[in-house]
Amino acid sequence: MHDTAKFGIIGGTGVYDLPVITPEQETLIRTERGVVNAQLGHYSGGDGELSVVFVARHGTGHSVPPHRINYHANILALQQLGVTQVLGTTAVGSLRESVRPGELVLLDQFLDFTSGRNYTFFDGGPDGVRHTDMTHPYDESMRQMLIEVADACDLYLRPRGTYVCTEGPRFETAAEIDMFARLGGDVVGMTNVPEVVLARELGLQYAAVSLVTNYGAGLSDSPLTHEEVQEAMEENQSQIAELTSGLIKRLAEDNGEESDI
Ligand code: HPA
Repeated sequence: MHDTAKFGIIGGTGVYDLPVITPEQETLIRTERGVVNAQLGHYSGGDGELSVVFVARHGTGHSVPPHRINYHANILALQQLGVTQVLGTTAVGSLRESVRPGELVLLDQFLDFTSGRNYTFFDGGPDGVRHTDMTHPYDESMRQMLIEVADACDLYLRPRGTYVCTEGPRFETAAEIDMFARLGGDVVGMTNVPEVVLARELGLQYAAVSLVTNYGAGLSDSPLTHEEVQEAMEENQSQIAELTSGLIKRLAEDNGEESDI
């Protein structure tokens, strides 16, 4: 029999208790860039099997701010565990009125406004220098799969969106939100760069789904708070859980078909 394929999820709270997954163990993965706490789980259905690895991007209890996340270690840990396909989930603010809070957006491009982050594995050390193609940063086959899964689950998923990544941890000024929208951004967050870049550098298939938790600064009358973002995330967690569960089943099914060959 084939090895069970491994699927990785980098996300926030709430994605760990997916009803379709049997939790196995919590484990510390040592990488050359640091230690990562990962939760291992397993999906087994009539359609196939899949091992699933969860990594909490911000650590347990949201204790690590976006600019201090050990993105390298998170990606390396997944690779070390044999993961080849990764889904990142993120909270974002909307840059346009037509992209409403509560909606899910499947990212297809990013604009990088971070500063001072270490965003490569190839910085001239033992791994040398490498320039990775980033024309289409998010894996197209996973994107297509997610669109089909959302359709089958009757979930509204915006099929594309440009993610503007800021350095944080502060929220944006109204002028920044206006500028990002004029530049072609759709949503704004603080974590998807360098996560997607590092995944690509190691050859992992990576896709990201963003939940719109709020309108960007200046697009709504009230000042933005982290509590508001967290509350909106909790309220809409079921959509992410449904989409992720659907994707797991679909990947397991594909894996089952491959094993039959
Ligand atoms: N800005 C940046 N990051 C965010 C936002 C925002 O408005 N909402 C959720 N994450």
